[in-house]
Amino acid sequence: MRTRGRRNKESQLTDELRCEMIFYATTHNYSDAERYERFAIDCKLDKKALEIGAVVRGLVSDLRERGRPPVQILETASATGLTAVGVVAELTRARIMCIYTSLDAEQNLLNYACARGRGHKFVQGDFEALPFSDEIFDVYIMMGAAGYRPKGTFYSEAYRVLRSGGYYVMPQIGPQPTVSEREKADAMSAGFIIIRADNYLIAQKS
Ligand SMILES: C[S@@+](CC[C@H](N)C(=O)[O-])C[C@H]1O[C@@H](n2cnc3c(N)ncnc32)[C@H](O)[C@@H]1O
Repeated sequence: MRTRGRRNKESQLTDELRCEMIFYATTHNYSDAERYERFAIDCKLDKKALEIGAVVRGLVSDLRERGRPPVQILETASATGLTAVGVVAELTRARIMCIYTSLDAEQNLLNYACARGRGHKFVQGDFEALPFSDEIFDVYIMMGAAGYRPKGTFYSEAYRVLRSGGYYVMPQIGPQPTVSEREKADAMSAGFIIIRADNYLIAQKS
């Protein structure tokens, strides 16, 4: 009985998750921050954030040796700030100072993240037309918003705001979490050198 009850609960959760996936894929409506946070946690993005933090720590240690503290991190499509929590926690554990800037198109999500101290700076904007000057970030993270780039300026903007030697980090999520050839080609056409292309795209500005 107990096993059947648990299975019912699990399949109900899967149905709910599927409904939410369809909702976000079809409406692109991220205005309800509480709802998106529940969805992101059901997708285990809070756990994924710790893994991303460890990857970023490896890259940042390398940058820090070149004498540039605090490390400037930009995350776009930052949503409710779960990635910021994992990355800042991992860097803090390694005693690496950073300034974490979160950018999203949706102000409600930024307000939610800001109210919970998930990151340091919160900017509403478009990742295809970034409201920042050239060469000010060491690391640029973007996850889960590959389908929202109609203008084709995403990579040229990422390249522009990164300092020389800075890294673009794109963790892959979803049913097929591997970097596509198209994604690599787009990054390379903007001038990036590909460092890693498996379940992460990591590209460096030369
Ligand atoms: C599926 S969520 C991305 C997952 C998110 N990185 C997380 O950790 O939960 C998509 C996000 O992209 C944002 N977004 C969509 N188009 C955007 C754009 N042009 N510029 C910035 N953010 C955008 C949405 O507001 C939403 O927060």
